[in-house]
Amino acid sequence: MAEVIIVADAKAAGALVADEIVGLIRHDPDVVLGLATGSTPVPVYEALPERLRGVDVSRVRGFALDEYVGIDPAHPESYRNVIRREVIEPLGLDPERIHVPNGAISTIEHAGEDYERAIAAAGGVELQILGIGTDGHIGFNEPGSSFASSTRVKTLTAQTRQDNARFFDSIDQVPMHCITQGLGTILRARHLVLLAFGEGKAEAVAGAVEGPVTASLPGSAIQLHPRVSVVVDEAAASRLQHADYYRYTYDNKPAWQGL
Ligand code: GLP
Repeated sequence: MAEVIIVADAKAAGALVADEIVGLIRHDPDVVLGLATGSTPVPVYEALPERLRGVDVSRVRGFALDEYVGIDPAHPESYRNVIRREVIEPLGLDPERIHVPNGAISTIEHAGEDYERAIAAAGGVELQILGIGTDGHIGFNEPGSSFASSTRVKTLTAQTRQDNARFFDSIDQVPMHCITQGLGTILRARHLVLLAFGEGKAEAVAGAVEGPVTASLPGSAIQLHPRVSVVVDEAAASRLQHADYYRYTYDNKPAWQGL
């Protein structure tokens, strides 16, 4: 099962995951990172620059999870721009090596396959950062997504559009469609790190970690993966039945084990 780590706050989670990422980059300067957008991974990205001082990041590669279809590429909330602003620029990564699914309508028919090919050609993702939607989606794999799915176009649920309306002037501006790595794609990454903060995520986290494995809660796909770390604050952990066991396990974790 997933290792569940309950931390004091988002900043502590960011520090923990950032330390792991820095270790990976030091070990393999060509490492392939799986990047996520949304507000959840921000503490990780904020913790990285000071830790990466003096570390060669020029060869680090990355693949984002998803993008809105048909969004103006210049729109500040296109995931291409979010990744540039929150990851590429502050960390000093090479933009040529950091990929985001192509949401342009003119090429959308083969954009999913192109993305899968690029991930495979890079040798796959080493560590995949994940957030989780309030409806249990990971990437933009909404309820009902196949566990075998690859990168493809999906229709956003009304709830996800509502949740993401805060990044736009109004809900009408939130695109209806997205292109997202599939659950199958995500499960091929070698280490999944799912982060969640706040009471609003508690139910989705409990379903993903302890609920039945079901396409109705796409985050539950993590239960099929051999190496998963779930890093949550107390509020996001509040619906977990076995929270005490997770704390006990983490408190007694051998020093030689990494994240
Ligand atoms: C967004 C993204 C997901 C993200 C999730 C939660 O729509 N596509 O990758 O994990 O929804 O977002 P947030 O972290 O802002 O709560």
